[in-house]
Amino acid sequence: MKEIENRIKDKFIRIEPDLKLAKKRTSDNPEILRESIEIPMQINGIGKNKTYCIQTFGCQMNAHDTEVMAGILEILEFTSTDNMQEADIVILNTCAIRENAESKVFGKIGSLKHLKTTNPDKIFAVCGCMAQEESVVNRILEKYQHIDLIFGTHNIHRLPFLIDEAYKSKEMVVEVWSQEGDIVEDLPKVRDNNTKAWVNIIYGCDKFCTYCIVPFTRGKERSRLPQDIIDEVKKLKIDGYKELTLLGQNVNAYGKDLNINYRMADLLEDIAQIGIERIRFTTSHPWDFEEELIDVIAKYDNIMSHVHLPVQSGNDQILKIMGRSYTREKYLKLFDQIKKKIPGVVFTTDIIVGYPNETEEQFEDTLSLYEYCKYDTAYTFVYSPREGTPAAVMEDNISLEIKKARLQKLNKLVNHYAQVNNDHIIGQVVNVLVDGPSKKNQLVYAGYSEGLKLVHFESTKELTGQIVQVKINDAKSFSLYGDLIN
Ligand code: SAH
Ligand code: SF4
Ligand code: F3S
Repeated sequence: MKEIENRIKDKFIRIEPDLKLAKKRTSDNPEILRESIEIPMQINGIGKNKTYCIQTFGCQMNAHDTEVMAGILEILEFTSTDNMQEADIVILNTCAIRENAESKVFGKIGSLKHLKTTNPDKIFAVCGCMAQEESVVNRILEKYQHIDLIFGTHNIHRLPFLIDEAYKSKEMVVEVWSQEGDIVEDLPKVRDNNTKAWVNIIYGCDKFCTYCIVPFTRGKERSRLPQDIIDEVKKLKIDGYKELTLLGQNVNAYGKDLNINYRMADLLEDIAQIGIERIRFTTSHPWDFEEELIDVIAKYDNIMSHVHLPVQSGNDQILKIMGRSYTREKYLKLFDQIKKKIPGVVFTTDIIVGYPNETEEQFEDTLSLYEYCKYDTAYTFVYSPREGTPAAVMEDNISLEIKKARLQKLNKLVNHYAQVNNDHIIGQVVNVLVDGPSKKNQLVYAGYSEGLKLVHFESTKELTGQIVQVKINDAKSFSLYGDLIN
């Protein structure tokens, strides 16, 4: 294949994204590359006396990719800065999930232009999911010539070469692989937090929900080998991390692509036994949520009883055209089963309103499902057409005004149940992993409970990074307030 041939290890060849290619799924197994971060002689120390600034948009996957890029940049001797104006390299790690996510990035790209006048040697790079889209790359090529480098989600490990090329080249450097590359292990990372860590377990997505761009931007499902994940977790434990979140677009599909009989439930159990205090995982697709997985979550105290279970819609026809592969009944059966087996489980979800031609009755089904599930919270969105996806070419007879009104109505319900659920916690003692003092008041600490609730409490002691007990005495819909015990 042309693209694959063009991926020459130590040379640069311009490759632009191709959505048609991105949609293809091959039966090839990814290779696992180890210690593959080779720094060519001429790039060694290229970042000496230089700074970098990465701005992250989008999901946890992107946040974690940013940590890897920071790791690579620091090997090149760049140092980190929050000051975009001063940074020698600015990287925008972008998200393509909805139009407004993209508009934000274009706004940012536009606002960077003037910075080049004071420092013409500055490098501006755009990477992440938007870089995987043809239309975005074309727009940047046409209108935003101050961008020096565009690379995608599959070739982050090529960053040293790409930066070198960007310094040397007079033209915009573009290297975006449309088809996923290999699984690259042992990449350096500068983690953003020294108590909580992200751990990728599976890359990509093969679900192809009809509205969603992710299967195009992140490639096919590829699980990391169990031993690589376990080794990473053991190291995190030794380094004193207290919480980790296992990441994947669909974590429950973990292991399906490996030719071994080892699935998410097995992985979770092996990780739980390593003894990290808190284990989370996101996102779970209802499709692959097996009973063994529910049992493992129930069995281990250090696996947090929080399940993010995106439903998207409460109506069977909409679910069918979304390609979600479950019905309302099946979803609710799974929901009830999880609730029964995991006492006190906290549920959260994602919902899209205004899918093309969604009727009022179909929307009401979403509301009634919400009333049944009484989620602790939900991320709610107005459907946004994404070029290249099947839903984007569907005719749509529902106006944006109606869609926005539906979102408002749904959000009222979300806020209502968030408050009701939080009110139930008043009087209870919860374990809180302390993030740190608030910026405004050093005596007020904030952290998260096991059920992922934001908790505030006062203390004169330095408690950052510790797990403490807090008795809750007040609740708002999105935060809890209490007193430190002992
Ligand atoms: N893999 C996860 C979701 C990742 S994207 C899952 O399937 O559960 C996060 C959320 O963004 C989705 O759950 C969906 O609710 C929302 N989303 C995705 N594409 C969207 C679109 N085109 N318009 C509006 N919301 C969208
Ligand atoms: Fe998108 Fe569906 Fe994959 Fe989630 S499961 S990332 S919504 S295609
Ligand atoms: Fe956005 Fe890509 Fe994540 S589209 S939500 S950053 S996988």
